[in-house]
Amino acid sequence: MKKLRLGVIGTCCRGKLADWAHQKDNGVEIVAGADIYNEQLQSFINRYKEKGSSVNGYLDYREMIEKEALDGVIITSPDFCHEEHATFALKNKVAVYLEKPIAITLEGADNILQTAMDNKTRLMLGHNMRYMDFVLKMREIIQSGMIGEVKAIWCRHFVSYGGDAYFRDWHADRAKTGSLLLQKGAHDIDVIHWLANSRTTRVSGIGSLSVYGNLPRRANEKLDALSIEEIWGKHHWPPEEQKDFSPFVNNEDINMVNLQLANGVHASYMQCHYTPDSCRNYTVIGTRGRIENYGDYGENCRIQVWTRRIDRFDIEGDITYRMPEPGEGHGGADPVIINSFIDMLRGTEVPNSTPQAARYAVAAGIMGAKSIRNNSMPYDVPALSEELENFDFSLNK
Ligand SMILES: NC(=O)c1ccc[n+]([C@@H]2O[C@H](COP(=O)([O-])OP(=O)(O)OC[C@H]3O[C@@H](n4cnc5c(N)ncnc54)[C@H](O)[C@@H]3O)[C@@H](O)[C@H]2O)c1
Repeated sequence: MKKLRLGVIGTCCRGKLADWAHQKDNGVEIVAGADIYNEQLQSFINRYKEKGSSVNGYLDYREMIEKEALDGVIITSPDFCHEEHATFALKNKVAVYLEKPIAITLEGADNILQTAMDNKTRLMLGHNMRYMDFVLKMREIIQSGMIGEVKAIWCRHFVSYGGDAYFRDWHADRAKTGSLLLQKGAHDIDVIHWLANSRTTRVSGIGSLSVYGNLPRRANEKLDALSIEEIWGKHHWPPEEQKDFSPFVNNEDINMVNLQLANGVHASYMQCHYTPDSCRNYTVIGTRGRIENYGDYGENCRIQVWTRRIDRFDIEGDITYRMPEPGEGHGGADPVIINSFIDMLRGTEVPNSTPQAARYAVAAGIMGAKSIRNNSMPYDVPALSEELENFDFSLNK
């Protein structure tokens, strides 16, 4: 089996995803990493030393790409770096695993797809929800025909840790993310598209910076001065008593969009960053029934199916599907998506997560944010060129 040499750009936080790819027994090794912060690079090098491996560290990702003869690179840098990092690797014929959202502009996303196609270099997107048990099960139920023809999908997304995760650093700044409809919502809009087997063609929305906008902010951009307890924790409650937010807060903390899909399905995505609890809750309504999930993984995660008329709320439904014990890394989805990337590199797999789908999720988010910021004006979502639409970015079909 061909040995694979992999690198990582953005070595810490989400960069730890790359650790799943370090499979020496399987002939796959992380051999190098790049990060603009020396401290992060050192912690990456030490992490691998503890595993008995030696990796090279680079402060300039271009140097790593040019020197390391990589078969692939896992890009886990912040959203606003994705276009630059991915296109550089692709132009150098290095296959790319790129975290969601694919980019923060439509032009950026299309540029990444075009560059991969022009250079005939493999590209995969990190939409790990396409590897989560509850999403796969919901898709299987829909495809079995149990609820008839899908007509509507509604997703409510409660993010209790929204203030901590998205309003303390670059995530809060629309110049660095576009909107939390991309940064966080790209996952769910993509799942809506996948469950409906379609994509958004027209979107309108409402939303605002409704709670975190007027709360105390830090003076400096870097988080270094804060302890972990000051950055994150269940003690950060209630929302309007929080402080230490980023100096640059202008993204909405509540977003609600209506999505018209190409195949006639109507969808809604609602996201709130100051709820007491956390949950992604989807309901899919078909011509012969309805399904709904409670929880996205863990003990309480289940999917209910209703296929008879009842005329009142019946919490049990007709069938309950419970999900298997969750594994590590987003309920076990992270190691599976990384294995899918490895298999794609070896030519044996076409991943669940495609660049076209990632682009359409981001495109709906971008146009949704534009609508929210323009008095709920509805906007069309531009389609890809036919060539990009039909290109197989895994090069394996
Ligand atoms: N799929 C998922 O479930 C999931 C989960 C978390 C994060 N993400 C994605 O992963 C990405 C990183 O998120 P994060 O929260 O870890 O971000 P982060 O700010 O913690 O940065 C990640 C790493 O990139 C490094 N970095 C920052 N700027 C860089 C640059 N210009 N060049 C190279 N390295 C740089 C940081 O030092 C850090 O090591 C985001 O795009 C995010 O959307 C995906």
